[in-house]
Amino acid sequence: MIKTKVKASRNYTVITGRRLIGRTGKLIEEIRPFAKKILIVSESRVAPHYLARVKASCEKSGFEVYDYVFEAGERSKNINTIAGMWGAMAKAGFTRTDLIVALGGGVCGDMAGFAAATFLRGIDFIQIPTSLLAMVDASIGGKTGIDLAEGKNQVGAFWQPSLVIEDISCLDTLPEGVFIEGMAEVIKYAFIMDLPLYNLLCENTLGSLRSDPLLLEKVVGMCVKDKAHVIENDEHDNGIRQTLNYGHTVGHVIEKNNNFRLPHGICVAKGMGIMIDACERNSTLSYEDASNMKDLIKAYGLPVSDEITPEQAVAGAMNDKKKRGSILSVILVNKIGHSQIKNMTHKEYLEFLK
Ligand code: GLY
Repeated sequence: MIKTKVKASRNYTVITGRRLIGRTGKLIEEIRPFAKKILIVSESRVAPHYLARVKASCEKSGFEVYDYVFEAGERSKNINTIAGMWGAMAKAGFTRTDLIVALGGGVCGDMAGFAAATFLRGIDFIQIPTSLLAMVDASIGGKTGIDLAEGKNQVGAFWQPSLVIEDISCLDTLPEGVFIEGMAEVIKYAFIMDLPLYNLLCENTLGSLRSDPLLLEKVVGMCVKDKAHVIENDEHDNGIRQTLNYGHTVGHVIEKNNNFRLPHGICVAKGMGIMIDACERNSTLSYEDASNMKDLIKAYGLPVSDEITPEQAVAGAMNDKKKRGSILSVILVNKIGHSQIKNMTHKEYLEFLK
């Protein structure tokens, strides 16, 4: 088991290990002994596997437990689902010492976190991510929110969880495609800040990661440590945290152009591939690093290209919520394990991608 401390506006621990779900009640009791009621928020694809176990564990610890299960998928990430959570808590008489548990992937954590940030002006929430992507990225760092018709994550709040419980055993049953999608975010950490992780991923394969629980725990733990370091230094996304968006600016446009039918991780991998090519073309990345990086993405079953044109990529990025005024922060990797934030105008970004 690996325990990683995150120091932010609220300090918390990320526990990464196996068979943790059945200990949820005890783990919550340890950090919030005065809580009485818990709302477990989960999604339709995850609840049948884990909701009963988490519920039983919380009840065994003496909590009064309620649940709210929404239809899995990005389409549920809206204000109506949040209103359902607010209503469930208001009806059950939740007070400020009660809390929410998010049991599921990134969409679930983002929404449960937003409901926690806003109900009674803020109550605690615990993340129990069940996908690789949520374990290594979305569940840590307190980005919460919902989508608007105009774009993803347009409304939200920074609201840190009080505890993150990462049960690696949940990944045993994760469909191959969903696991591979999560690998895009793992590879992202390797490229932007973690050469030892890059080397470890090069020495291993998708098969070895999936069949060796200790190796998987180690890899997830390395990503958690990377994310914790980033959050500690820039919780509110004004500096180093933006490097976590490597491949995402193009990736988000690809996602939108495909009406969100392509999974997020696949689009991020494509976005990273496009940025690698652009850096190589602009002579900021060596041919050797560029081909090694693309080989690694492909080795883990992910794509490195897309039909998107530079004009489309730039037009889409101009609606990006990370844009500041007319300037876009573009994340570059010019050497494996190191990233750089480069501010570009619309014209400069287009020239860079062409
Ligand atoms: N997922 C990117 C971030 O947490 O900033």
